[in-house]
Amino acid sequence: MKSIQYDYSFMLSSTVGEFGTAQSDLNSILPTVLELRNNYFIQNPSPYGFMRLPYDSNSVTRVLDVANRIKERFQTLLVLGVGGSDLGARAVIDALPSSGMKLVFLGANTDPVEIQNCLKDIDWEHTAINVISKSGDTIETMSTFLYVRDLLIAQMGVEKASGHIIATTDTKKGTLRAIAHKEGYEILPVPEDVGGRFSVLSPVGLFPMACAGIQIEDLLSGARDICEQLLHSPTTQWQSAELFAVLHFIGYTKHSQNVHVLIPYMAALRQTGFWFRQLWAESLGKKETVDGLEVYTGPTPVAALGATDQHSQFQLYYYGPYDKIITFIDVEDYGSRLVVPHSFNDIEGVAYMGGLSFEKIVRTELQASALALAERKRPNGRIILPCNSAYYIGQLLQFLEISTVYMGHLLHINPFDQPGVELGKQNMYALFGRPGYEKRRAELSALMENYGKNVV
Ligand code: PA5
Repeated sequence: MKSIQYDYSFMLSSTVGEFGTAQSDLNSILPTVLELRNNYFIQNPSPYGFMRLPYDSNSVTRVLDVANRIKERFQTLLVLGVGGSDLGARAVIDALPSSGMKLVFLGANTDPVEIQNCLKDIDWEHTAINVISKSGDTIETMSTFLYVRDLLIAQMGVEKASGHIIATTDTKKGTLRAIAHKEGYEILPVPEDVGGRFSVLSPVGLFPMACAGIQIEDLLSGARDICEQLLHSPTTQWQSAELFAVLHFIGYTKHSQNVHVLIPYMAALRQTGFWFRQLWAESLGKKETVDGLEVYTGPTPVAALGATDQHSQFQLYYYGPYDKIITFIDVEDYGSRLVVPHSFNDIEGVAYMGGLSFEKIVRTELQASALALAERKRPNGRIILPCNSAYYIGQLLQFLEISTVYMGHLLHINPFDQPGVELGKQNMYALFGRPGYEKRRAELSALMENYGKNVV
């Protein structure tokens, strides 16, 4: 089986000049990377929950069991979640063809118009709800859930309604767990040591995917193979996920390249960009190092889409500040033979297009952009997928998660916490007067007085 690859030719100073990474820099960082690999990535069992997920066959059996029962009874699955409890499933379901239930995602936003629009055609008798929240306290997800649950009960009655709801939540504690127990919902676990943005291969992502008819075993098999490559890699050889992290680390720390763009050239991978954006931002945007030193660090990830953003973003990428690293996602086989017809052979502006396959066009657009960037001394790399399948998407997700954690180690920060996200949640509780958040409300009072004070 082939593997995804990382082409870093245009990340090097030997090709893009002074803003690229020198081979000597790579050589000097290799021992650190090998130490990280030994200490954290090739331990068995892994100290990291997300590295164990691809091997968790019990979880797969349980997810498939519940999904098969739900698929038999219902036609639509309403998936409620936000952030890490939302973006992974969305990315995979958008990327791959699905043959199962119809999925409707809600709860990532509290926009009432969106909520009403999404729910207006729901046939409650044939709809199940998967509410996903590790904590069970997240206002976006839970307020939407309370609203949706009421609609369901109005149609089905309290007792029947409980049989429509599957709660994916913490294994031991939390508000959603308490509600699920009280009402007798089916519960799927979020492993304790797996944070939201690393949970795509846990029941958080796997259950909606299985309901959509995605081959979750293939997805996990791809992810597992990336872990295995790391486990069995020779001690002197770089793994692609390591190189991706190291080149971004050197670019960020040595060349102030603090904007990291991921640009798939396949519309189906647009959501994957949004999933990565959360992973990179929440994991790496930190105030202090693991030793408590204030650093306020973290690159800014950007999710873009080729070829369309060539006509939106690339002016900035080619001629703007030298603060970016661009990573293309290049799919070798689109599985499509769509060809441009030979319509106007006598009109030069379009004649040369006749007979070209769209796959050739989109991949050449990527190549043209990579060359243009390199020519202007802009480092850029390319993640190559042999094709868009569950197996390779699994590889891609695991590759990016591993890279993120390496990057966190290199920056000397904790990639697994998210105090900023928690702060936002606490401010919401304080503003709504939730008991226990009085102190936080008092802390905000001076700023609250100024909110909206100078409006013209
Ligand atoms: O990655 C994270 O930890 C966050 O994005 C969470 O997933 C998000 O805030 C939702 O949290 P919860 O699953 O507790 O509702």
